[in-house]
Amino acid sequence: MPRLSSLAFATALALAAVPLAAQAQAAGKVKVGFMLPYTGTFAALGVAIENGFRLHVEEQGGKLGGREVEFVKVDDESDPAKATDNVNKLIKRDNVDVLVGTVHSGVVMAMAKAAKDNNTLLIVPNAGAGAVTGPMCGPNIFRSSFSNWQPAYAMGEVAVKKGYKKAMTITWKYAAGDESVAGFKEAFEKGGGSVMKELNLPFPGVEFQALLTEIAAAKPDVVYTFFAGGGAVKFVKDYAAAGLNKTVPLVGAGFLTDGTLEAQGDAAQGLLTTLHYADGLNTPRDNAFRLAYAKTFKLQPDVYAVQGYDAAQMLAAGMSAVKGDTSKRDALVAAMEKARIDSPRGAFTLSKAHNPVQDIYLRKVEGKENKVAGVAAKALSDPARGCKL
Ligand code: PHB
Repeated sequence: MPRLSSLAFATALALAAVPLAAQAQAAGKVKVGFMLPYTGTFAALGVAIENGFRLHVEEQGGKLGGREVEFVKVDDESDPAKATDNVNKLIKRDNVDVLVGTVHSGVVMAMAKAAKDNNTLLIVPNAGAGAVTGPMCGPNIFRSSFSNWQPAYAMGEVAVKKGYKKAMTITWKYAAGDESVAGFKEAFEKGGGSVMKELNLPFPGVEFQALLTEIAAAKPDVVYTFFAGGGAVKFVKDYAAAGLNKTVPLVGAGFLTDGTLEAQGDAAQGLLTTLHYADGLNTPRDNAFRLAYAKTFKLQPDVYAVQGYDAAQMLAAGMSAVKGDTSKRDALVAAMEKARIDSPRGAFTLSKAHNPVQDIYLRKVEGKENKVAGVAAKALSDPARGCKL
C-alpha cells in the first residue's frame, strides 16, 4: 500500500509543519487591509485616513505589538454595489489580519457583515452608519471616528440656542445623509424647532440648483446640511453663488468644511459647523500630530487624518497587549475596549458598542481654518440603539 503510506507520510509532515507555520505567523508581518475610496468624491478622505494610519505606525518604528506591518489596499470607489466583492478580496484573497475601512456609510454595511461572517477584526476610520455601532455591533467591530448622529445632534442643540425656529435640510439620499438629518431634527425638535422640509439628491450628485431655488423661496431661519469631500466643495460654492449665504444661515456637520477650505475659499467664510475635531485646539498632543503630519506628507491634516491615526492607535493598544499574537483575539479586543486613546482631537474612550465617547466642537470658518469656537456637546455618546453586546 505504497500510496496510503505516502499519504500518511504527507499528513504527518503537514501536521508537524503546523506549529512551525504558526510560529512564523506570530513572528511575521501583521497584514492590514485598507478598504477606502481612492477615486470619486471621497478620494481625498481615503488618502488622509491612510496617511494618518501610516503615520502612527511609523511613530511606533513601523511595528504593531512587535510585528512589522504589511499593507494591502482596495479602492472601494464609495460604491455599495461593489462593496461585498471588494471586502472579500481583502478577507479571502489577501487573508488580512485586520480590516480598516471605510468612508461611505453604505459601503461600510457590507464590510461589517463580512467582518461578522468571517470573524475578521474591523476598525472603521470614518463611516458614521448608526448600524455599525447599533444593530450590527459586535466584539470584532470598532470605530475610531463618530456616528452620524453625534455631530448632527450637537448642531440641533446649537441651532435651538441660536433661536432658530424653522429649518430646512439638504443632503445626499443615503444612510449618512438620512441619519445626519435625523440627528439634527431630534435635537432641534426637542428644543421646540421644526423642520419644514427635507431636501435630497442622489449620492454623489451635485445638481443643487433647483433645490437652492426652493430654499430661497421658502426662506427658513436656517439650513442644516450634510455633505463631504468634493460634493461639499461644490455645495458651499453654489450656496454662496446663489446669494443664499447673505440671507439664510447655513450650518452643518463639520465634514462640510473639513479638508475643503482651500477649494471653497471665500464661499465658506463664517460657516458654523459641529465636529469632533477643530483647528486651533492648541494642545501639545494636537500640535505634535499636526507638525509630524505636515512634515511627512506636505499636507495639513484634517479630521480624516485624525481618524486614521486613531484607528492605528486603537489597533496598537490591542496588539501590544497580546505582544503581536493576533490569535489571542479575546485579549486583543479587551485591550482595545478599555484603551484610552490619546487622540489629537482630545483623549477619548469607547462606548460599550465600540464608538468614541467624545467632545463635539463648535467651529467657525476663518480663512483656511475651522477655528474652535467652543464645545457644543461634552463627552457625547451615541445612543447605540439596537446594539446588544
Ligand atoms: C458616511 O458616508 O458615513 C460619511 C461620508 C463622508 C463623511 C462623513 C460620513 O465625511
